[in-house]
Amino acid sequence: MRVIVTNSYEKMSATAARMVAGQLYLKPDSVLGLATGSTPLLMYQNLIRVHKEIGLDFSEVITFNLDEYLGLKREDCNSYHYFMHENFFKYINIKPKNIYIPNGSAEDIEKECKRYDALIEEKGGIDLQVLGIGQNAHIGFNEPDIKFEATTHKVKLDEETVNANARFFKTIDEVPRYAISMGIKTIMHAKKVILLANGENKAEAIQKSIYGGVRPDAPASILQLHQDVTVIVDKAAASLLG
Ligand code: F6R
Repeated sequence: MRVIVTNSYEKMSATAARMVAGQLYLKPDSVLGLATGSTPLLMYQNLIRVHKEIGLDFSEVITFNLDEYLGLKREDCNSYHYFMHENFFKYINIKPKNIYIPNGSAEDIEKECKRYDALIEEKGGIDLQVLGIGQNAHIGFNEPDIKFEATTHKVKLDEETVNANARFFKTIDEVPRYAISMGIKTIMHAKKVILLANGENKAEAIQKSIYGGVRPDAPASILQLHQDVTVIVDKAAASLLG
């Protein structure tokens, strides 16, 4: 596990974007695993800029998103489909057929989860997975005490996650309680992982995940067992690392 402590959210985002761009220069048909949420927003903006200014090419790139809420339509402004298109995909030259996001409106969720894992495998697995981290150290929506061997599955969101996500909704009652998430096993199969965190509210999750061995109450700590993980944090998220 490499840990890069940067001075600011801007530097964290630029460092992450450089790693993703580097991956695409080396392997233009890379399979990327992507996250939503506030953390990667500026990384996406940096990648859009590199695409526009120096032609970083996404035409052969395949993407798989980590998760999607259950019960929100794709066009709902809080769905992760909407988020990814509005914040990233519509500005780059990725082919729509190469974009994969779990279908949270699927009739048969179990079948949808199996289909998603099969697709990832069919595309050769994830080359580079970008992750954010929850305040409870979740990755994807793998909440504390999740089974480490889980593949893509339906999850019930923790109260802490529901509260954290409420900032995007008018009322807390509108926040979905369930989601589809890639499992820890799926994430651990990625060839490379970048974990991003900024802000003081992530400091404890980062500390628990990096130090003290693997523990089910901090799902991200499983990454200590992955062979190629880079944790990129700002100073505030690194403040408990000592
Ligand atoms: C999002 C995801 C989540 C977020 C995490 C942090 O696709 O899988 O694990 O990365 O909840 O969210 P932010 O970045 O909004 O603090």
